[in-house]
Amino acid sequence: MPALVLLGAQWGDEGKGKATDLLGGSVDYVVRYQGGNNAGHTVVVGDQKYALHLLPSGILSPGCTPVIGNGVVVDPAVLLSELSGLNERGVDTSKLLVSGNAHLITPYHTTVDKVTERFLGKRKIGTTGRGIGPTYADKINRVGIRVQDLYDESILTQKVEAALDFKNQILAKLYNRRAIDANKIVEELLGYAEQIKPFVADTTLILNNAIDEGKVVLFEGGQGTLLDVDHGTYPFVTSSNPTAGGACTGAGVGPTKINRVIGILKAYTTRVGAGPFPTELFDEDGEKLRTIGGERGVTTGRDRRCGWFDAVIARYATRVNGLTDFFLTKLDVLTGWEQIPVCVAYEIDGKRVEELPYSQTDFHHAKPVYEMLPGWSEDISKAKTFSDLPKNAQAYVKALEEMSGAPISAIGVGPGRTETIEINSFLS
Ligand code: GDP
Ligand code: IMO
Ligand code: MG
Repeated sequence: MPALVLLGAQWGDEGKGKATDLLGGSVDYVVRYQGGNNAGHTVVVGDQKYALHLLPSGILSPGCTPVIGNGVVVDPAVLLSELSGLNERGVDTSKLLVSGNAHLITPYHTTVDKVTERFLGKRKIGTTGRGIGPTYADKINRVGIRVQDLYDESILTQKVEAALDFKNQILAKLYNRRAIDANKIVEELLGYAEQIKPFVADTTLILNNAIDEGKVVLFEGGQGTLLDVDHGTYPFVTSSNPTAGGACTGAGVGPTKINRVIGILKAYTTRVGAGPFPTELFDEDGEKLRTIGGERGVTTGRDRRCGWFDAVIARYATRVNGLTDFFLTKLDVLTGWEQIPVCVAYEIDGKRVEELPYSQTDFHHAKPVYEMLPGWSEDISKAKTFSDLPKNAQAYVKALEEMSGAPISAIGVGPGRTETIEINSFLS
């Protein structure tokens, strides 16, 4: 089982960090392939809690080599502060590899992210303000700065000047902001160069060789399927491809090398930021999910919007990612409801629709069609096997599996590594 992808099946925050950490002890490499420090992955190891943003969750497993792939956008200040934060807690980060082709988030990208959101007013996306969108925009516009540029001052200066020529016009004339001094940016970036140098590598070559040698490589997605710039609820998305194909482009590994694609699926649904969300709750059930589930953003501290499980979305995630398995998380949060509504289809303009509509207008009009499943009241956090679960919890999992189109191979019953029911091994 040399290569597997682990990704979010909904709008992010499904528990990818926990799932990656769980597998981290058995894999050789954990690779981030897209996104940047917009991600917030909470990993609980024993009594220690870690919040990771840019670094792959595999960094907490001593035998595992963490890799930041070419498809990631790297804020060098965040990279260094996350590393030193972990070092202070005794985590060895020396094995980290960073692709020389990854693009850099600079202070002007975060500035543009923030002023653009302000300019959009009511139409804002609700970004994390970390400069993600503007950095990917520069990459596509071919005016981006890459990690390798840190090691050629003359090229770095030319590139920063080229990028700022246009941006400064916009900042000054449209947003009424002061122009940004290219020399100051170059100076700041060069200040990070030597500290980052030991990690910079040809990660594509290393990963392909590792797979060919039979090493186990896990690609860890940030965000989630519905936040994908191509397959998500555009324009209320992030600016990268968290879906499975993104692992190939974002790490330089061909699709024929990937054997398994695991969708991390929360037993209910959450979303941060703006955009459509058919099963969103505005009542006390929503508040209860938020409180019991601890649904508050790890990156921005914003309350997450909460709603019931949406099987239309899960089926869509199976389709666009070619999922082989699901890891169902946070089942424990649903303990205590007499009945649990599950969205099985949408009603759009009076018609029942089983598949996610491609039209954004239809999706905005989608009303959930609910089926009620019986709940359970027993504490399930100590369950170790599927049969330890109360009958109604088992039936809930089975029903979700049937509706979602791929086997549920693991179930999370708490935030800790050990609070997991493994049904089928991901690594066999
Ligand atoms: P990620 O962005 O997908 O890594 O997810 P986050 O870390 O942002 O959010 C998931 C939250 O749920 C974290 O606080 C996890 O510690 C927690 N969590 C993960 N799996 C479970 C689970 O099965 N049960 C409970 N109660 N919490 C979980
Ligand atoms: P993890 O990896 C949830 C959301 C933002 C906003 C949109 C665009 O923890 O699951 P961006 O800053 O990326 O341009 O913001 O995407 N968003 C996330 N929501 N979890 C995340 O990451 C997210 N990363 C970005 O809230 O709606
Ligand atoms: Mg998160």
